[in-house]
Amino acid sequence: SQYRIAVVVGSLRRDSFNQQLANALVKLAPQDFSLTRLEIGDLPLYNQDDDGQQAQAVKRLKQEVSSAQGVLFVTPEYNRSVPGVLKNAIDHASRPYGQSAWAGKPAGVIGISVGSIGTALAQQHLRNILAYLDMPTLGQPEAFLQAKEGLFNPDGGIGEGSRKFLQDWMDRYVAWVKKHTD
Ligand code: FNR
Repeated sequence: SQYRIAVVVGSLRRDSFNQQLANALVKLAPQDFSLTRLEIGDLPLYNQDDDGQQAQAVKRLKQEVSSAQGVLFVTPEYNRSVPGVLKNAIDHASRPYGQSAWAGKPAGVIGISVGSIGTALAQQHLRNILAYLDMPTLGQPEAFLQAKEGLFNPDGGIGEGSRKFLQDWMDRYVAWVKKHTD
């Protein structure tokens, strides 16, 4: 496909709602978009001493981000912020200084939680980080999802109740990526 999107899921949990959401969003993307999840669970803890000799997993992450036309963050909220595993991955690919893989990549932010504010505060913290990393981030529509019966179909797609809303979100994200790709 013409547009490769790097999907970063902020949960390592096997049955993660956010991973389920990412899988369901893949089905809403158009033909010329391919969405691929980046592995962040095997990254070491970030240590600035290693900037000169980044681990293989870090090099792979940076390569995958660099070759993508856009990044899609799908994350839970942990203690009113982003999970450490997500921040760890972001920090890794932002270094060494001046060689960030994130710069200029159009971003989308979405998430699902069991709480009723649906990752709103985590997303707001993430937006702060992405602004510093110089990633143009889709502002609207915002999508704060709460895990509940019927959100996902048995086949892993988005259930009837939220499908139009999330299709619209995906359409806007797709347009955002195209707008920021030469
Ligand atoms: C949570 N959870 C949570 N939910 C929320 O809405 N706001 C929060 O601040 C937190 N904080 C929090 C901290 C930690 C350490 C955990 C493990 C969980 C609950 C969270 O929404 C729930 O565990 C989701 O299922 C996590 O997303 P995944 O793993 O299903 O994608």
